[in-house]
Amino acid sequence: MKITVIGTGYVGLVTGACLSEMGNHVVCLDVDARKIEILNAGGIPIHEPGLQELVRRNAAAGRLEFTTDIPRAVAHGTLQFIAVGTPPDEDGSADLQYVTAAARNIGRLMTDHKVIVDKSTVPVGTADKVRAAVADELARRGVDLAFSVASNPEFLKEGAAVEDFMRPDRIIIGTDDERATLLLRALYAPFVRNHDRLLVMDVKSAEFSKYAANAMLATRISFMNELSRLAEALGADIEQVRVGIGSDPRIGTHFLYAGAGYGGSCFPKDVKALARTAAEAGLPSKMMAAVEAVNEEQKLVLVRKIVAQYGEDLSGKTFALWGLAFKPNTDDMREAPSRVIVAELLRRGATLQAYDPVAADEARRVIALDLGDEKPETRDRLRFVSSATAALAQADALVIVTEWKEFRTPDFEALAQALADRRIFDGRNLYNPALVRGFGLDYRSIGRS
Ligand code: NAI
Repeated sequence: MKITVIGTGYVGLVTGACLSEMGNHVVCLDVDARKIEILNAGGIPIHEPGLQELVRRNAAAGRLEFTTDIPRAVAHGTLQFIAVGTPPDEDGSADLQYVTAAARNIGRLMTDHKVIVDKSTVPVGTADKVRAAVADELARRGVDLAFSVASNPEFLKEGAAVEDFMRPDRIIIGTDDERATLLLRALYAPFVRNHDRLLVMDVKSAEFSKYAANAMLATRISFMNELSRLAEALGADIEQVRVGIGSDPRIGTHFLYAGAGYGGSCFPKDVKALARTAAEAGLPSKMMAAVEAVNEEQKLVLVRKIVAQYGEDLSGKTFALWGLAFKPNTDDMREAPSRVIVAELLRRGATLQAYDPVAADEARRVIALDLGDEKPETRDRLRFVSSATAALAQADALVIVTEWKEFRTPDFEALAQALADRRIFDGRNLYNPALVRGFGLDYRSIGRS
């Protein structure tokens, strides 16, 4: 099939690459010329396991193309996927300006029937807005062309995006249009071994499902984070509690980890957007407000532990920081808890030596923006280093923010020797406290005393 993907970010690029792998001819469009240049030069603008090979192979086969040429992209695809960003507006609602711009471009330029598919995470009712924007552009041109609009929210996880797209838990298609249903069923058939995983429903339910899924996942995290504070105060161990409750199949073992708070491009903005939608519907969500509030506090949990140990004034103290990305296997720094932790520690006078296996460049860029108003003296106390070991040099204590695999089994003896205070603040509960303490290290983690 001929496919156009509008927006070549984390979702658009993975979608385009995976669809081309199944023999489709895909054109990926972006307004960011730098991204398209990198892709056309054989590079890749993001870190995502397995994606580079997929992109190279299909681009070389001529099935996957990248362009900034809007007319060409609109002319190409029978199916037009919209995978642009939907960042939070000032009031927390999803900003639909990029979705609307993409829809308008389609309406302005289409010359045959198009199936327009919303893949971006968008509030209930957006498909109607997309339909109206396309119809408005067609009317301006005085052209009478039929088109279909469907919702196909994306459920991939950054860090495992290719795997998730290739072997999805489910694919949701929201449409009441037969042509769209037939085409999308055919397109996704190679990705679903049995069709129970392909769920066709009405458009609004499809749009709502994506928010419901992310809200549920964020709720589980905030729930465990809140319990972890209580566990710590009561002398219980949240890791044992996690195992204790996770073995109940009604609860399940996934997404029950207490930590330093959730981040990323989805949970924070989708929780906010759902809260906004609920308020607009006259049904304010107490749960979403609580999930967000708990998470904001949780991002500070490591800073609080550090301050409890050393006091508010951290000048003269040097901390090694392991991990900056919001989770492992990605370079995505959007809403990463590390950004809050870095800013708070620097403001209190600390010196930081930060290491991340892949997110360092992106971290440097976004943290520079975060610290834009700070004095150079403050900003200069943050150094990025190129290995976990380098971060430890002359450090007083270690702070672990992201659970990259390479941090899981360190040489504890070497850690005890390198860290002047022999102290670890672990925001991801990577180690067994008894084991670490056996090396003479003072070990502070989440929800365990
Ligand atoms: P992103 O920011 O990585 O990519 C969006 C891309 O769209 C950017 O490259 C931007 O330049 C481009 N763009 C904006 N306006 C455009 C236009 N008019 N024409 C062509 N390109 C345009 O965003 P990401 O992370 O891929 O997210 C996209 C959507 O997918 C969002 O709604 C997000 O909530 C949703 N989503 C994201 C997931 C993730 O893990 N990142 C997972 C599931 C859904």
